Amino acid sequence: MSFDLSVIPNKNIVLAVTGGIAAYKSAILVRRLKDAGFNIRVVMTQGALAFITPLTFQALSGNPVHTELLNPEAEAGMGHIELARWADLLLVAPATCDTLAKFATGLADDLLSTLYLATKAPVWVVPAMNQQMWAAKATQRNLATLVDDGVHVIMPDSGSQACGDVGLGRMPEPEAIAYQVKAYFHQAQRAIAEKFGLLAGKRVAITAGPTREAIDPVRYISNHSTGKMGFALAAACYAAGAKVTLIAGPVSLDTPNGVRRVNVQSALQMLDQSLAQLQEGCDIFIATAAVADYRVAEVAEHKIKKSGDELAVNLVKNPDIVATIAQQEKRPFMVGFAAETRQVEEYAAGKLVAKKLDMIACNDVSRADIGFASDQNAMTVFFADQYQLDKRDLEKASKQEISQQLVEAIHDALHFNSLKKDEL
Ligand SMILES: Cc1cc2nc3c(=O)[nH]c(=O)nc-3n(C[C@H](O)[C@H](O)[C@H](O)COP(=O)(O)O)c2cc1C
Repeated sequence: MSFDLSVIPNKNIVLAVTGGIAAYKSAILVRRLKDAGFNIRVVMTQGALAFITPLTFQALSGNPVHTELLNPEAEAGMGHIELARWADLLLVAPATCDTLAKFATGLADDLLSTLYLATKAPVWVVPAMNQQMWAAKATQRNLATLVDDGVHVIMPDSGSQACGDVGLGRMPEPEAIAYQVKAYFHQAQRAIAEKFGLLAGKRVAITAGPTREAIDPVRYISNHSTGKMGFALAAACYAAGAKVTLIAGPVSLDTPNGVRRVNVQSALQMLDQSLAQLQEGCDIFIATAAVADYRVAEVAEHKIKKSGDELAVNLVKNPDIVATIAQQEKRPFMVGFAAETRQVEEYAAGKLVAKKLDMIACNDVSRADIGFASDQNAMTVFFADQYQLDKRDLEKASKQEISQQLVEAIHDALHFNSLKKDEL
């Protein structure tokens, strides 16, 4: 088994550390879980405090450590009920015989045992103890009770122990525990995806088409974008269970079924509407629009009359919509598109980094058979380094089929990353 630790966003784990010699390994476990993108809050029993300091866990988790139940100050912060609600998983590692016994009997005389009873989150225990304590009838009886109660047990490893004994009872390595936790969340996500679609519950904003930059009331600067790719993607995202808003430049396409459409003309209007989507809440932002890089500095109030042989129009740079959205504090997962006529992959990879995108799909618009006005497309998709995903070549296919593959790529980056599916 390889230990893949790529990112899982927005899941909360309460890591409870109890008074066993393996408590030092929990410091590394916090690091590995943080690497995987989990939010961590650490609870320590009084026993654990004899083995390792809260300061270590506070520094590693980036959150205050919770140690006491009957402390008005602690309860005024995130109290036991709030912690219980916050958790998506209560992970007890190491779990001592003592704590297992408390859980099995329903005692609630300290913070952890109270939290155990108060949380609706799944509970995982990682027992770690001397091999004789592990084999003890009472320990095995308590474990059987916990399994009956729905607690998940990560079995201890066998080998040499801190006390000098050899046998079952060692806490598994932090990487192995983190891997199992990640696999659990991946599986849960996959079950949701299978039932409700790959982007179930996600809010997606897509920009599409060209923009029109007015010169005077009857003339404008624009480009050949038809919006077909963005509209096909909007349909695919909706079919995948997402709530989709399409911010469309001037195109003559029907709004896909189930999709909310906001029409704009200029780059500035497109930016305004994109920022408004962020305000409303947006998980994924897909920028397919061919936004004009420049706009006319001063739009003439009246139609410009034909006069001399030459006419100079001053242009000023438009804001970069994608880069602006990517710079926001609460940024969504950012997908960019690059249409290039040469050195396509090189430019696209550069754009991915420069604009801080999560994913970029690029195509070669110099090819007459794909791109702008065509119903077909062929693309190469790159992911930001943190996703540890290889680039994907999407062979020439209809824009509908390409959209479906892009939805899969977004989903993979968001949830599965490079975790090998057959290992789950
Ligand atoms: C040096 C030392 C190491 C210990 N290691 C373990 C251990 O690995 N596993 C265990 O179950 N108990 C171990 N104990 C016993 C627990 O610390 C003791 O049962 C304590 O009450 C546990 O409290 P807690 O479960 O509230 O943390 C150890 C005790 C000492 C003194």
